[in-house]
Amino acid sequence: MGQALPKVGLRPYLPADTSVLASIFVAAIDVLTEDDYSQAQREAWASAAEDEDKFGKRLSSQLTLVATIASSPVGFVSLKGADEIDLLYVHPSSVRQGVATSLCDAIEKLAAARGAKALTAEVSDTAERFFAKRGYEGQSRNTISVGDEWLANTTMKKTFIAEVTPVRPS
Ligand SMILES: CC(C)(COP(=O)(O)OP(=O)(O)OC[C@H]1O[C@@H](n2cnc3c(N)ncnc32)[C@H](O)[C@@H]1OP(=O)(O)O)[C@@H](O)C(=O)NCCC(=O)NCCS
Repeated sequence: MGQALPKVGLRPYLPADTSVLASIFVAAIDVLTEDDYSQAQREAWASAAEDEDKFGKRLSSQLTLVATIASSPVGFVSLKGADEIDLLYVHPSSVRQGVATSLCDAIEKLAAARGAKALTAEVSDTAERFFAKRGYEGQSRNTISVGDEWLANTTMKKTFIAEVTPVRPS
Protein backbone atom coordinates (compact mmCIF):
# COMPACT_ATOMS: atom_id res chain seq x y z
CA MET A 1 0.00 0.00 0.00
CA GLY A 2 1.37 3.48 -0.91
CA GLN A 3 2.16 6.02 1.81
CA ALA A 4 -0.34 8.84 2.31
CA LEU A 5 0.95 12.21 1.05
CA PRO A 6 1.65 14.78 3.80
CA LYS A 7 -0.91 17.55 4.23
CA VAL A 8 0.17 20.67 2.36
CA GLY A 9 -0.84 24.02 3.90
CA LEU A 10 -0.95 27.31 1.99
CA ARG A 11 -0.60 30.86 3.27
CA PRO A 12 0.34 34.29 1.94
CA TYR A 13 4.02 35.25 1.85
CA LEU A 14 5.38 37.34 4.74
CA PRO A 15 8.62 39.39 4.55
CA ALA A 16 10.07 37.12 7.28
CA ASP A 17 9.86 34.19 4.78
CA THR A 18 12.41 35.74 2.42
CA SER A 19 15.50 33.84 3.64
CA VAL A 20 13.87 30.44 3.65
CA LEU A 21 12.26 31.01 0.25
CA ALA A 22 15.64 32.13 -1.13
CA SER A 23 17.17 28.87 0.12
CA ILE A 24 14.31 26.82 -1.42
CA PHE A 25 14.87 28.69 -4.72
CA VAL A 26 18.62 27.94 -4.70
CA ALA A 27 18.23 24.28 -3.65
CA ALA A 28 15.48 23.62 -6.22
CA ILE A 29 17.62 25.01 -9.04
CA ASP A 30 20.80 23.33 -7.86
CA VAL A 31 19.36 19.85 -7.34
CA LEU A 32 16.23 19.51 -9.48
CA THR A 33 17.34 21.14 -12.75
CA GLU A 34 20.70 19.37 -12.94
CA ASP A 35 19.66 17.16 -15.88
CA ASP A 36 18.51 20.12 -17.96
CA TYR A 37 20.97 22.97 -17.25
CA SER A 38 24.74 23.15 -16.78
CA GLN A 39 26.33 24.14 -13.50
CA ALA A 40 27.20 27.58 -14.87
CA GLN A 41 23.60 28.08 -16.04
CA ARG A 42 22.21 26.96 -12.67
CA GLU A 43 24.55 29.26 -10.77
CA ALA A 44 23.54 32.23 -12.94
CA TRP A 45 19.83 31.37 -12.47
CA ALA A 46 20.17 30.90 -8.68
CA SER A 47 22.07 34.18 -8.29
CA ALA A 48 18.71 36.00 -8.53
CA ALA A 49 18.28 35.22 -4.81
CA GLU A 50 21.77 36.34 -3.74
CA ASP A 51 20.58 39.83 -2.89
CA GLU A 52 17.84 38.94 -0.41
CA ASP A 53 16.44 42.49 -0.25
CA LYS A 54 15.93 42.48 -3.99
CA PHE A 55 14.51 38.94 -3.92
CA GLY A 56 12.13 39.94 -1.09
CA LYS A 57 10.95 42.97 -3.07
CA ARG A 58 10.22 40.70 -6.04
CA LEU A 59 8.18 38.36 -3.82
CA SER A 60 6.28 41.17 -2.08
CA SER A 61 5.53 43.01 -5.34
CA GLN A 62 3.68 39.92 -6.57
CA LEU A 63 0.93 37.72 -5.16
CA THR A 64 3.13 35.11 -3.48
CA LEU A 65 1.81 31.99 -1.75
CA VAL A 66 3.89 29.77 0.53
CA ALA A 67 3.29 26.02 0.81
CA THR A 68 4.00 24.41 4.17
CA ILE A 69 4.30 20.88 5.49
CA ALA A 70 4.01 20.65 9.28
CA SER A 71 4.13 24.48 9.33
CA SER A 72 7.53 24.66 7.58
CA PRO A 73 7.80 26.34 4.16
CA VAL A 74 8.55 23.79 1.42
CA GLY A 75 7.66 25.73 -1.74
CA PHE A 76 6.21 28.91 -3.18
CA VAL A 77 4.51 30.38 -6.22
CA SER A 78 4.18 33.99 -7.35
CA LEU A 79 1.70 35.66 -9.70
CA LYS A 80 3.13 38.64 -11.58
CA GLY A 81 0.48 41.12 -12.68
CA ALA A 82 -2.89 39.60 -13.49
CA ASP A 83 -1.91 36.60 -15.53
CA GLU A 84 1.71 35.44 -15.31
CA ILE A 85 3.25 32.83 -13.03
CA ASP A 86 6.72 34.18 -12.29
CA LEU A 87 8.20 31.85 -9.66
CA LEU A 88 7.34 28.24 -8.77
CA TYR A 89 9.86 26.35 -6.66
CA VAL A 90 9.65 23.34 -4.35
CA HIS A 91 12.40 22.16 -2.02
CA PRO A 92 14.05 18.95 -3.33
CA SER A 93 13.15 17.11 -0.11
CA SER A 94 9.44 17.75 -0.73
CA VAL A 95 8.98 17.08 -4.45
CA ARG A 96 6.42 14.68 -5.98
CA GLN A 97 4.11 15.12 -3.00
CA GLY A 98 1.65 17.49 -4.64
CA VAL A 99 3.20 20.72 -3.29
CA ALA A 100 3.40 22.51 -6.65
CA THR A 101 -0.03 21.15 -7.55
CA SER A 102 -1.54 22.74 -4.42
CA LEU A 103 0.25 26.04 -5.15
CA CYS A 104 -0.90 26.14 -8.78
CA ASP A 105 -4.48 25.08 -7.96
CA ALA A 106 -4.67 28.07 -5.60
CA ILE A 107 -2.95 30.65 -7.81
CA GLU A 108 -5.05 29.66 -10.84
CA LYS A 109 -8.26 30.07 -8.79
CA LEU A 110 -7.11 33.44 -7.44
CA ALA A 111 -6.11 34.67 -10.91
CA ALA A 112 -9.43 33.52 -12.40
CA ALA A 113 -11.36 35.16 -9.55
CA ARG A 114 -9.53 38.41 -10.34
CA GLY A 115 -10.68 38.20 -13.94
CA ALA A 116 -7.74 36.50 -15.71
CA LYS A 117 -8.86 34.56 -18.78
CA ALA A 118 -5.55 32.71 -19.09
CA LEU A 119 -2.23 32.26 -17.31
CA THR A 120 1.21 32.17 -18.88
CA ALA A 121 4.56 31.07 -17.49
CA GLU A 122 8.11 30.96 -18.79
CA VAL A 123 8.65 27.32 -17.99
CA SER A 124 12.00 25.66 -17.39
CA ASP A 125 12.69 22.42 -19.23
CA THR A 126 12.52 20.72 -15.81
CA ALA A 127 8.97 21.95 -15.14
CA GLU A 128 7.56 21.44 -18.63
CA ARG A 129 5.91 18.10 -17.91
CA PHE A 130 4.40 19.46 -14.70
CA PHE A 131 2.78 22.38 -16.54
CA ALA A 132 1.75 20.24 -19.53
CA LYS A 133 -0.07 17.87 -17.17
CA ARG A 134 -2.03 20.87 -15.87
CA GLY A 135 -3.19 21.83 -19.35
CA TYR A 136 -0.58 24.47 -20.23
CA GLU A 137 0.41 24.51 -23.91
CA GLY A 138 3.72 25.61 -25.41
CA GLN A 139 3.58 28.99 -27.19
CA SER A 140 7.21 29.78 -27.97
CA ARG A 141 10.69 28.52 -27.26
CA ASN A 142 12.92 31.20 -25.71
CA THR A 143 16.60 31.71 -25.02
CA ILE A 144 17.04 34.16 -22.18
CA SER A 145 20.19 35.92 -21.01
CA VAL A 146 20.98 35.48 -17.29
CA GLY A 147 24.26 37.05 -16.24
CA ASP A 148 26.88 35.63 -18.62
CA GLU A 149 24.73 32.60 -19.49
CA TRP A 150 21.94 31.78 -21.92
CA LEU A 151 19.10 29.57 -20.71
CA ALA A 152 16.35 27.94 -22.74
CA ASN A 153 12.75 27.93 -21.58
CA THR A 154 9.26 27.70 -23.05
CA THR A 155 6.40 30.17 -22.76
CA MET A 156 3.34 28.08 -21.85
CA LYS A 157 -0.25 29.17 -21.59
CA LYS A 158 -3.41 27.79 -20.03
CA THR A 159 -6.72 29.31 -21.09
CA PHE A 160 -9.48 29.08 -18.52
CA ILE A 161 -12.74 27.74 -19.85
CA ALA A 162 -15.40 30.38 -19.34
CA GLU A 163 -18.21 29.23 -17.10
CA VAL A 164 -21.37 29.15 -19.12
CA THR A 165 -24.51 30.18 -17.28
CA PRO A 166 -27.14 27.58 -18.08
CA VAL A 167 -30.19 28.95 -19.82
CA ARG A 168 -33.31 27.63 -18.16
CA PRO A 169 -36.17 26.69 -20.42
CA SER A 170 -39.12 29.00 -19.81
C1 LIG B 1 8.55 21.66 -11.20
C2 LIG B 1 8.34 21.60 -9.70
C3 LIG B 1 7.81 22.94 -9.21
C4 LIG B 1 7.30 20.48 -9.42
O1 LIG B 1 7.04 20.45 -8.02
P1 LIG B 1 6.37 19.18 -7.28
O2 LIG B 1 5.83 19.67 -5.97
O3 LIG B 1 7.31 18.05 -7.26
O4 LIG B 1 5.15 18.83 -8.25
P2 LIG B 1 3.90 17.87 -7.90
O5 LIG B 1 4.26 16.89 -6.85
O6 LIG B 1 2.70 18.72 -7.64
O7 LIG B 1 3.74 17.10 -9.31
C5 LIG B 1 2.49 16.85 -9.92
C6 LIG B 1 2.71 16.07 -11.19
O8 LIG B 1 3.49 16.82 -12.13
C7 LIG B 1 4.37 15.92 -12.85
N1 LIG B 1 5.76 16.22 -12.48
C8 LIG B 1 6.23 16.96 -11.44
N2 LIG B 1 7.58 17.00 -11.47
C9 LIG B 1 7.97 16.28 -12.55
C10 LIG B 1 9.24 15.94 -13.09
N3 LIG B 1 10.38 16.37 -12.55
N4 LIG B 1 9.27 15.16 -14.20
C11 LIG B 1 8.13 14.71 -14.76
N5 LIG B 1 6.90 15.00 -14.29
C12 LIG B 1 6.82 15.77 -13.20
C13 LIG B 1 4.01 14.52 -12.40
O9 LIG B 1 3.00 14.06 -13.27
C14 LIG B 1 3.47 14.77 -11.00
O10 LIG B 1 2.57 13.78 -10.58
P3 LIG B 1 3.15 12.39 -9.93
O11 LIG B 1 4.19 12.77 -8.91
O12 LIG B 1 1.92 11.77 -9.34
O13 LIG B 1 3.74 11.63 -11.07
C15 LIG B 1 9.66 21.23 -8.95
O14 LIG B 1 10.22 20.07 -9.54
C16 LIG B 1 10.73 22.33 -8.99
O15 LIG B 1 10.80 23.18 -8.10
N6 LIG B 1 11.62 22.27 -10.03
C17 LIG B 1 12.80 23.13 -10.12
C18 LIG B 1 12.48 24.59 -10.31
C19 LIG B 1 11.70 24.86 -11.56
O16 LIG B 1 12.03 24.41 -12.65
N7 LIG B 1 10.63 25.66 -11.37
C20 LIG B 1 9.77 26.06 -12.42
C21 LIG B 1 10.19 27.39 -12.95
S1 LIG B 1 9.11 27.79 -14.31
